[in-house]
Amino acid sequence: MCGIVGYIGEQNATPIILNGLKRLEYRGYDSAGLAVLENGHIEVRRDAGKLEKLSALVQANPVSGKLGIGHTRWATHGEPSARNAHPHMGQTGEVVVVHNGIVENYLELREELTAEGVPFTSDTDTECIVHLIEGFLSVEGGLVEAVRRSLQRLQGAHGVVVFSSREPDKIVAARIGNAGGVVVGLGQGENYVASDIPAILEHTRQMVFLESQQMAVVTRADVQVMTLDGQPVEVKVNTINWDPISAEKGEYRHFMQKEIHEQVRSLTDTLAGRVDFDNGRITLAQLNVDAENARRIKKIFITACGTAAYAGQVGKVLIEDIARIPVEVDIASEFRYRDPIVDEDTVVLAISQSGETADTLAAMEEGRRKGATLWSIVNAIGSQAMRLADGYISMQTGPEIGVASTKAFTAPLVDLYMLAVYLADLRGVIDENRRYELVQDLRLVPALVGKALEKEPEVLQVAREMKYIRNALYLGRGINMPIAYEGALKLKEISYIHAEAYPAGEMKHGPIALVDRDMPVIALALKDPWYEKMISQIEQAKARGGAVVAVATEGDERVAGLADEVFWVPETPWRLSPVVSVIPLQLFAYHIASLKGLDVDQPRNLAKSVTVE
Ligand code: F6R
Repeated sequence: MCGIVGYIGEQNATPIILNGLKRLEYRGYDSAGLAVLENGHIEVRRDAGKLEKLSALVQANPVSGKLGIGHTRWATHGEPSARNAHPHMGQTGEVVVVHNGIVENYLELREELTAEGVPFTSDTDTECIVHLIEGFLSVEGGLVEAVRRSLQRLQGAHGVVVFSSREPDKIVAARIGNAGGVVVGLGQGENYVASDIPAILEHTRQMVFLESQQMAVVTRADVQVMTLDGQPVEVKVNTINWDPISAEKGEYRHFMQKEIHEQVRSLTDTLAGRVDFDNGRITLAQLNVDAENARRIKKIFITACGTAAYAGQVGKVLIEDIARIPVEVDIASEFRYRDPIVDEDTVVLAISQSGETADTLAAMEEGRRKGATLWSIVNAIGSQAMRLADGYISMQTGPEIGVASTKAFTAPLVDLYMLAVYLADLRGVIDENRRYELVQDLRLVPALVGKALEKEPEVLQVAREMKYIRNALYLGRGINMPIAYEGALKLKEISYIHAEAYPAGEMKHGPIALVDRDMPVIALALKDPWYEKMISQIEQAKARGGAVVAVATEGDERVAGLADEVFWVPETPWRLSPVVSVIPLQLFAYHIASLKGLDVDQPRNLAKSVTVE
């Protein structure tokens, strides 16, 4: 989704903005632009397409100045084009705006402004904002007051960043609701504004996060935060420890491949500080739960979208099995609108890499309204899903750049396992021996993932043979059923091959009609409690002429004899097997897309952070 970068200081803002936008490419976008204050007037460069196009525009028609804002746009209102790209300037040319989110009442505002004689030059909802601000610019309090009054007219959720040539000493940034974050980065005699940390991380690690209904007035020397009602807010500075280098591709062709390989490290980091192997204990301090709270829980709703929701389905099996608490997994976009039965003895647990997914945040708010305890498992530090929650588990994966989630899928699998053991312990439903054994199994995880990754050449070979397939059917059962869904999602989103997933037991109820030699079946047949059931499913697919690729446990002769191809994974305790079984499926999807020469890290129509409904 849209990305924002802003700069005010003594350097030339243009390269800082272009560079910052580059770091946000992973969010997905279809046009880009910047506005810089040059010799007292605002210069805008913008176009549809990738950042290279914007850079070329700037090279052909250079612009420089010490104050500027930039934007990558993911079209919602109006096609991707130069006139719809941000920044948007008002009719006097004195105010310029970039915006994330959707102005829900924009038709009404547009009509009102048009009736007043304001000419619109784009199809966007954003343009209303700049005209509103311009209209208020002469009121007492100048730009800050004009932004404040304008924002009060908007419905929906927004991140807005504005500057005006009338007041060339400041940028004004604001956040309303959950349309993505607004971060202010603190420098020496210079300051930054961004929608996301990676955009400005190479310049500063000191960051201030705006909450909903807050504004920041950012000058070279200072940052002031206030509510939209004008009440001053104490500025809380966070230090970000992410390594900017880890946001680079390194030796890999794509971020996705790099991130798949980073899982050994991210899973090692996931365990660090939380697992006491000597005493067989888990501690999740930031969850803020004690034995009394844990015993009161009657039900957990896991709510999330896409890949994160599949992680949640694995979590359901783990929490029900280990902690014996009923768990329902609900797609966030459904949960938020279906009046779920939730009360104060319920936990709503959101899982989100970005922590800014609009539907997931709305589902959390629905939980809050109904009195539930809110927990989240989140990657992006300081994100809304982390801040809204009563307690959280931080994923420890570092920034994930590839749009297709990989390391931010396996980390929550381990987080959910740890959560299950932790809750079971607090509620007194497992004895010391069982707890000790469950905890010891965690020790194996990073090395087992490493072993699965060593099989990349074999997976690549199968990808070469299968890169022309048009369809695929992924099957799994039990704890590996969600991995079938995740494998199919990975394939479809980056290679554009139609892939469906089913709980294998459902085959006989319809989907088996699809199976023939043109419909390869990818079957998860690990040595887990559902193994025998999967074997019989593979036999049925073979009997109908289907080509079977199995994900199987090393040394399994039965599967070797049945399947056409096998992705071997090391033997793993079954409750942790999804962390390992998903690895070849991530690699398979990656290599097919890469062999087809597709834009693996930024697949068409997708965005890394889905901050609109
Ligand atoms: C798929 C993928 C998406 C996200 C989903 C939720 O590879 O990445 O399905 O999992 O959009 O995003 P977050 O986790 O940021 O809430």
